[in-house]
Amino acid sequence: MNNVIDFINTNRDRFLDELKAYLAIPSVSALAEHKDDVRRCAEWTAGQMREIGLENVRVAETPGHPIACGEWLHAEGAPTILIYGHYDVQPVDPLDQWISPPFEATVRDGDLFARGAADDKGQVFMHLKAIEAHLKQNGRLPVNVKVLIEGEEEVGSTHLEDYIRQEKAALASNVVVISDTGMFARGVPSICYGLRGLAYFQIDLRGTKSDLHSGSFGGAVANPAIVLAQVLAQMKDRSGHVKVPGFYDDVRALTEQERAEFKRLPFDEKSYRKELGAPRLFGESEYTTLERTWARPTFDVNGLLSGFTGEGAKTVIPATAMAKVSMRLVPNQDPDRIAALFEAYVKKITPKTVEVKVTRMHGGKPWMTDLDSPFVQAAGRAIEQGFGKRAVFTREGGSIPIVSAFQHELGIPSVLFGIGLPEENSHAPNEFLHLDNFYGGVLAAAFLYAEIGAMPESGTAVPSVGE
Ligand code: BES
Ligand code: MN
Ligand code: MN
Repeated sequence: MNNVIDFINTNRDRFLDELKAYLAIPSVSALAEHKDDVRRCAEWTAGQMREIGLENVRVAETPGHPIACGEWLHAEGAPTILIYGHYDVQPVDPLDQWISPPFEATVRDGDLFARGAADDKGQVFMHLKAIEAHLKQNGRLPVNVKVLIEGEEEVGSTHLEDYIRQEKAALASNVVVISDTGMFARGVPSICYGLRGLAYFQIDLRGTKSDLHSGSFGGAVANPAIVLAQVLAQMKDRSGHVKVPGFYDDVRALTEQERAEFKRLPFDEKSYRKELGAPRLFGESEYTTLERTWARPTFDVNGLLSGFTGEGAKTVIPATAMAKVSMRLVPNQDPDRIAALFEAYVKKITPKTVEVKVTRMHGGKPWMTDLDSPFVQAAGRAIEQGFGKRAVFTREGGSIPIVSAFQHELGIPSVLFGIGLPEENSHAPNEFLHLDNFYGGVLAAAFLYAEIGAMPESGTAVPSVGE
């Protein structure tokens, strides 16, 4: 490993320059105007795979954005890892809040600022550089690798599940390695063993054919903005519980041991609150903040639109009102079942004075793995070697929709090996990647391949528990 470590340490500057080029491609999957950029980014990813020595590199088509794939399969008798990540990024608005342009990666104070720096191009690139270090120095990898980098994660991985189903044989592996999560905090490298799922909806209300003069018609018809507010107000009670009937039926309870582990983590509620700029924290009263965000489901309004919001005043009754809402789900909630419960509840509580339409948008299943899995243990050792510190075990509130499909379709567990930081502004203005974590992550990834490579190939397909 020493020559691999040397390679990583002496090539830091080049890695950074290349990552900046990767980050310059505005691969925003949600916006049609960036469709060609997304493809260009898939091709860039594939080109990089070729350059580092991966074989059978290709850009695979889907009905949506393409997937970049490559592999190296000459580690006879060793296990095979499937490295998954995403090269697509979130939109950048509000653009005026960026200190430096989102697609001109800029280093300030040891942090690299750009859209996608942490989520997820920087973490994808960390693996590509770890692979490069092994291949350039030794002409081989200690483990077989298949790399799959998709372009639709930020829009719900719409076509990836079909792709995995079709390519089952080609993707056969022993474990999936994903770097698309965060560390618990600066200097606290982590392994994530649980993710929340997601069920996302748009609610549209219509009161009348067109907007109305609020003087002539005010009092005669329902105002859809008010009706929408009333509907939304019935989604959560004052102690933070979701009121959709049946919502909590399948929620797996936190174990006492897990609650105790969470309490041991270095979490300072006061500085968390201050960092967020929140006057008070709010959530289910009988749970702590970490429990609320990692292990409890929740409901949120993501956006609202109705009526006149321009300068000055306009006396109008809006014809329509719209809300984007979503629920984060935990094991063993099923997004399809939650969708049915939610739609039934909205229809039940919406008065007949408006027309209501509920449209289901993307979603994903919650996921959790077994801490005793030998892969999770191997990842723990790799983190320790790469960062010189023991990893803590965490869950995350975010979602990676495809993780549970790897379990269901390929029958293999995933290891979440993320090096982001909670404060890295992913999805927000001024996203960044802490460069020390990037370099530590390249080392840790290089160690991870060696750790998994040293495991026996037979008997490695240890199933993870739950979803
Ligand atoms: N990398 C995130 C997932 C994540 C977020 C992990 C926070 C850990 C902490 C991923 O790119 C993401 O943003 N997922 C979306 C999924 C959605 C678009 C279907 C999410 O969680 O909102
Ligand atoms: Mn991500
Ligand atoms: Mn994301």
